[in-house]
Amino acid sequence: TTIYLSDYRVPDFLIDKTELSFELEEAHTTVNSRLYLRRNPEALDQSAPLELHGADLSLESIALDGRELAADEWVEEGELLRIASVPDNFTLHCVTRIYPQSNTSLEGLYKSSGMFCTQCEAEGFRKITYYLDRPDVMAEFYVDIIADKSLYPVLLSNGNCVLEEDLEFGRHRTRWHDPFPKPAYLFALVAGRLSRVSDRFRTRSGREVDLHIYVEDKDLDKCEHAMTSLKNAMRWDEDVYGREYDLDIFNIVAVDDFNMGAMENKSLNIFNTSCVLAKPETTTDAGFQRVEGVVAHEYFHNWSGNRVTCRDWFQLSLKEGFTVFRDAEFSADMGSPTVKRVEDVTLLRTAQFAEDAGPMAHPVRPDSFIEISNFYTVTIYEKGAEVVRMIHTLLGAEGFRRGSDLYFERHDGQAVTCEDFVRAMEEANGVDLQQFRRWYSQAGTPRLAVSGEYDEAAQTYTLTVKQSCPATPGQAEKLPFHIPLKVALLGEAGQLRLNLQGHKADPDAADNTERVLAVTEDTQAFVFTDIPERPVPSLLRGFSAPVRLHFDYRRDELLTLMAKDSDGFCRWDASQQLGLAEILSAISAQESGQAAVVAEDFVAACRSLLLDESLDPAMVALMLQLPSEAYLAELISPVDVQAIYRAREAVRKGLAHALRSELEACYGRCDVEEEYAANAEQIARRSLKNTALAYLMLCEDGEVYALARRQFERSGNMTDRLAALVAIVNAAEPYKGEALQRFYQDWQHEPLVINQWFQVQATCRLPGTLGRVKELMSHPAFDIGNPNKVRALIGAFCGQNAVNFHAEDGSGYAYLADQVIELNRRNPQIASRLLTPLTKWQKYLPAAQTAMKAELRRILAEPELSSDVYEVVSKSLQGA
Ligand code: ARG
Ligand code: ZN
Repeated sequence: TTIYLSDYRVPDFLIDKTELSFELEEAHTTVNSRLYLRRNPEALDQSAPLELHGADLSLESIALDGRELAADEWVEEGELLRIASVPDNFTLHCVTRIYPQSNTSLEGLYKSSGMFCTQCEAEGFRKITYYLDRPDVMAEFYVDIIADKSLYPVLLSNGNCVLEEDLEFGRHRTRWHDPFPKPAYLFALVAGRLSRVSDRFRTRSGREVDLHIYVEDKDLDKCEHAMTSLKNAMRWDEDVYGREYDLDIFNIVAVDDFNMGAMENKSLNIFNTSCVLAKPETTTDAGFQRVEGVVAHEYFHNWSGNRVTCRDWFQLSLKEGFTVFRDAEFSADMGSPTVKRVEDVTLLRTAQFAEDAGPMAHPVRPDSFIEISNFYTVTIYEKGAEVVRMIHTLLGAEGFRRGSDLYFERHDGQAVTCEDFVRAMEEANGVDLQQFRRWYSQAGTPRLAVSGEYDEAAQTYTLTVKQSCPATPGQAEKLPFHIPLKVALLGEAGQLRLNLQGHKADPDAADNTERVLAVTEDTQAFVFTDIPERPVPSLLRGFSAPVRLHFDYRRDELLTLMAKDSDGFCRWDASQQLGLAEILSAISAQESGQAAVVAEDFVAACRSLLLDESLDPAMVALMLQLPSEAYLAELISPVDVQAIYRAREAVRKGLAHALRSELEACYGRCDVEEEYAANAEQIARRSLKNTALAYLMLCEDGEVYALARRQFERSGNMTDRLAALVAIVNAAEPYKGEALQRFYQDWQHEPLVINQWFQVQATCRLPGTLGRVKELMSHPAFDIGNPNKVRALIGAFCGQNAVNFHAEDGSGYAYLADQVIELNRRNPQIASRLLTPLTKWQKYLPAAQTAMKAELRRILAEPELSSDVYEVVSKSLQGA
C-alpha cells in the first residue's frame, strides 16, 4: 500500500518514557517493554484507539496498567496491533519473543559474527517490540540488557551506563539511560565479545568526552584513522557550526553484516566494518577517505538528525541532505576541496541524474512511497545536499550560519520538516525562498540552455539562459526553478570585471569577477556591460546547481577553459567535454568502419597536463580520465553499451600510444618511496601514478606489464597494490591468474580485502567475466548473507561492468534477476538495491529493452515479493 505525505496526521498518542529489558539467549531473545503513554492533546480524534506497530513478533503477554488484556480487547491486523479502548494516561507492558539468530534481513535485532546488534532506521524497531514506530514520537529510554557474560562481555545501548551487575548462572546485566528523548529509529543495542580503542575529546565548553571504538580483537590495529577522523569532526562542528557534543560518552561499533554504511544511533553509532576499519596495508586511499567521511557524517547527525529530527519519513532529506552537505564541506577542509567536489559531482551526474530520468524519480521530499527503505537514494542524499549547498551559495557562509543557528535553536528537541529548515534560513536572513522551495517538491533534473552574444560596438556580452525540466512519473509539468548560476568571463589576460545591467554590484563578492546569477524564469537575458573583448564564459562554477547545462563552446574555447580557468570544477569539466567529443567521433568512425584518431589538439592538451609539474597531480589525474561509461550513458541516447565501450577504449589507447614517454616520465616522477599517509598530497600523487599506469597498460607490451607486476609485488600499501592488480586483471597478461592467487593467499584472513578481490574480478572488462562471477559465488569466502560480499561480487558485476552486464545474449540480466529472486526472501533491502541497473531499461537499444523487461516481469511474477522489491519492479514496469 502507498503512503502519502498529504495523509500526515499528528500522532494520537505520545510516549514519555520507554523501559526495555532484553534477555539475550542463544535460541531467542525476550523483550519486556513498559511504555508510559498518554493521549496527544493535539490529536484530532481524542477517542482514537491505540495502534502500535509490530512485525515478526511473537507476543507472550500484554497488560494495561498492570491488568492482563483479554483476547478480545486487542486485534492484530498486518503490522498494527489495535487496542480499541484505552484511558488518556496509562502504561502498557508487553512481553515479546524474537529470533535475532534467524533474522537475515539485518533490520531490527540480529546477529552478526557472534555479536548482537540492531538497525532500526527507518522502521526496524517494530521488529523488536510493539511500539509507535514513527519519528515524531520521542521518548526517554531506559534499557536493561541481560546476557551470558563470557559470550557477551560488552553490553551497550544509548546514553549513559547507570548500572552493571553480575547475575547467577554466569550472566550479567547493564542498564542504560538516554536523557535525550528520541524516536525509536535512533535506538541501538550491541552485545558481544568486543575489544576497544579509546581516546578523549574536550569540548569547547570543557566537557570531557570518552570516545570508544569497539571492534573484534583482530581489528584493533585498524581504528586509528577513524578515531582521528572523529576528533577532527567534533572540532570542525564546533568551529564551523558552533555545535558541541552533549554526553560524556560516544561509542562506535563495527559490524560485518550491515545493509548500509553506518547508523547515527544516539551516542552509539553502528558502522559497517568497511566504513570504520582502515590501515595502509589493507585499505585504499578511497577507503581511508570513505572512513573519514562516514565517521564525520554519523557524528554530524547528532545535531542534524538527532537533536533535531524528522517529523515523518517524507522529510528524510532534512537530515540526510543537510548532513551530506556538512560531511562534504568537512572532507573538503581536511583534504583537497576541488577533488572532493569533482568526485561528488561525478556521483551526482551519473547515479542521481540517472535516477531523476528513470522510473523511480522522486522529489527531494517525496509525496508518496510504498516502502521507505527504497528512498535512501542518491536523490534524498546527494541531490538533497546540493539543495542545501545552493542555499549556502545564495546566503553566503555567514548568512547560512545565521540560518543554521536559528534552525538548531528553534527546533532543538523537535521532529520537524524541510519547510521548517527553509523557513529558518529565510527568517534569519530576511530573504524570500518561495520559488526556491520547488527544489523540494519537483523531481527531475533541470536543463539550462545557455548562449552568449558579444556586441563589440556596445561593449556588452549577453548570456541568454533558458531553463526546462523533463516530466517525471506523476509530474507532467514543472514550474521554473530558482537556480543559482555562478559565472565568470575569461578574457585574454584573466577574468573580466562584471557589471550586470540593471543590478548593483554583488556586495558579498570578494572581487567582482565572479557572480551568482539568479535564474528564475523560463528565459532570461543577463547583459554584462563594459566588456572590452569577446570573452569565454565560465559557467556553473563549482557546479553551483544540480542541472544539465548546455553551451555551444568552440573547441578552442574548451581548450582555453581546460588550461586556464581558475575554477577547478570548470577546468575539469572542460576536459570532460573535450573527451566526450573524442569519444563521439570515435563512435562515428566505428560506424563507418574507420579507425578512431584522437585529435592532435586534445593530445597536446593532455601532454601539457602531464608535463606541467606545477599542477596539482590529483587534478591532472582527474582531467586525464575520460568521461566514465556511466556518465556517457547519461549523455548519449539511446545507449549502445558495446559501441560506447569500444569507442572509449579506442580513445584511451590512442592517448596511451601518443603520450607513452610522457606517461612513463610522469609515472617515474610520482613513484616515490615514502611512508604511507592518507593525506591530500600523497593521495594526489598515487592517483596520478595509477592513472598513468592504467594508460600505459594499453600499450600492451612486456615492458609495461613488467611495470605493473613490479608495482604489484613491491608496494606496501593497498592503493598501489590494488591499482596494479586491476591493471593486470584487465590486460591480456599471462601473470593474471598467479597475481589473483597470490593476492588471495596474502589476504584471505581480511574480509574487507577479500571484498576488493571479488570486486576486481567482477569488474574485469574482458569476456568470460560472468562465468567467473558465477564460479566465485561458490568460493568459500563468498557469503550471500553478507551485504558487503553481495555488493562486491553481484553488485559490482551488474552496476560497474556495463559491457559484460549488458552482454547481447541477455545473460547478465538473467543472472541479476536470479539473484534478486534469491535475495528477496533473505534480505529485501539488498535485493531491491541490486535491482537498480535493470530498472533503467528505457535508455538502451530495443533488443536490450526487451530482454531487461522480460527479466523484470519474471521477478514480478514471483510469489511473496517483499514490498521493497515489489515497489521497484512494479514502478519500473509502468508504461512498459
Ligand atoms: N541514517 C543512516 C545514514 O545515513 C542510514 C541508515 C539507513 N538504513 C537503512 N537500512 N535504511 O547515516
Ligand atoms: Zn545519514
